[in-house]
Amino acid sequence: MTETLSFGPVAPYYDELMKAVPYRMWVSYYLLLLSMQQVQPKKILDICCGTGTMCEMLQDEGREMAGFDLAPGMIAIAKRKAAKKKLPIPYHVADATNFDLGETYDGALSFFDSLNNILDADALANGFKCMAKHLKPGGSLIFDLNMAYAFEASLFDQEQMRKNAKLRYQWFGDWDPESRIITVNMTFWYKGDEFHEVHRQRAYDTDEIFEMLEDAGFEELRAYHSYTLDPPRYKSDRVHFTAIRG
Ligand SMILES: C[S@@+](CC[C@H](N)C(=O)[O-])C[C@H]1O[C@@H](n2cnc3c(N)ncnc32)[C@H](O)[C@@H]1O
Repeated sequence: MTETLSFGPVAPYYDELMKAVPYRMWVSYYLLLLSMQQVQPKKILDICCGTGTMCEMLQDEGREMAGFDLAPGMIAIAKRKAAKKKLPIPYHVADATNFDLGETYDGALSFFDSLNNILDADALANGFKCMAKHLKPGGSLIFDLNMAYAFEASLFDQEQMRKNAKLRYQWFGDWDPESRIITVNMTFWYKGDEFHEVHRQRAYDTDEIFEMLEDAGFEELRAYHSYTLDPPRYKSDRVHFTAIRG
């Protein structure tokens, strides 16, 4: 199992934290990338699905979604939300580095730099092999990763300290260029309660990712600069990858 100190205490507040995040745009971009791949998956697996917001939106678009995440607290919320909206989305607690859901899918996605949380390159490579096993031949894999530039440029140093903000927070990232791992110490305040999380992310190069995808049996590998159809640049903070299971 991957070590996780993350997405535990914050799980009940995750949707509040993500309130300003443009999930609708992400879904549109995902659909655009599918059209670039010339595939239209029906049954889709969301890997590291968090509280299930993308699953819900894509289910509303007529896809049959399923999702899994390592953090039981995130999955508990995803399940609660789906039950309330009567959405038949199966959610599981599982580790993206080594999973067997006993199902195959037409597509798989992982958004919002979730796979950067896997700190060991061999574990990530194994994760891609599991993803390949869960996809039918011709199935689509689409995910995004934070790139080293995001960590070098301190994009994780963030705060929301407005007095009337429901959830206030301060985050400080400590980037180690040698291990290519950033450690982000996070403090949150909610209605007078204070809690902490430590998140760690590793930066991977595009070529390294392509090699892992090829080894796992993926073809038609493409990389795009964050939410565009442009190639990645030196200053890409985020890159979206697309691949087809051979
Ligand atoms: C930034 S959140 C993104 C969640 C969701 N994709 C979204 O867009 O809201 C990252 C998620 O990755 C999950 N995660 C981290 N490492 C994981 C692993 N090895 N296996 C499965 N989930 C993992 C965390 O628990 C967390 O829910």
